Amino acid sequence: MTPLLFFVITIIFAAGAAAGAFLANTFRNKQERVCRGSVRIGPSTVAGRGAFALKAIKEGDIIERCPALEVTDKDIGGELLNYVFYGSAEDRRLIAMGYGMMFNHSSTPNVAYYREDGPTGTELILYALHSIAEGEEMYYNYGDDWWRTRGATCE
Ligand SMILES: C[S@@+](CC[C@H](N)C(=O)[O-])C[C@H]1O[C@@H](n2cnc3c(N)ncnc32)[C@H](O)[C@@H]1O
Repeated sequence: MTPLLFFVITIIFAAGAAAGAFLANTFRNKQERVCRGSVRIGPSTVAGRGAFALKAIKEGDIIERCPALEVTDKDIGGELLNYVFYGSAEDRRLIAMGYGMMFNHSSTPNVAYYREDGPTGTELILYALHSIAEGEEMYYNYGDDWWRTRGATCE
């Protein structure tokens, strides 16, 4: 084999290996990442999974509009009670779809939310209280009542 042929074969082999590694990495990332819009779900520093900013978010930006379903508190039990929001009355609860129910609590939150009742139904809208860096975990404040009624403490 001439040195030139050896060189060409080596280059083709290396290029093939690099392309394979690139494609495998791209494909793996697509499968592993759970994300949509501005939110990625990942391991939290405070509890289980949490919601992280997929990109830099500016103060006031809407992070997620969650279609929501208001139900009576009798429909909610067990662990699900830790995931739902307060509804329009004491005995009502709001189930927020999308990533709305995956945000953890902080007493210094970077996210807040409000409810909007439109012609097509209720939405829970999460927005940034101040600018949030890409990769930062996002929290809203569950409120003292949330922790007191469960006899639990937070990070
Ligand atoms: C709405 S879920 C949040 C997502 C949850 N971390 C998960 O992995 O599914 C509420 C649960 O997270 C826990 N949690 C949220 N924020 C917390 C904090 N700052 N400290 C301790 N536990 C927290 C609560 O105890 C509750 O069980």
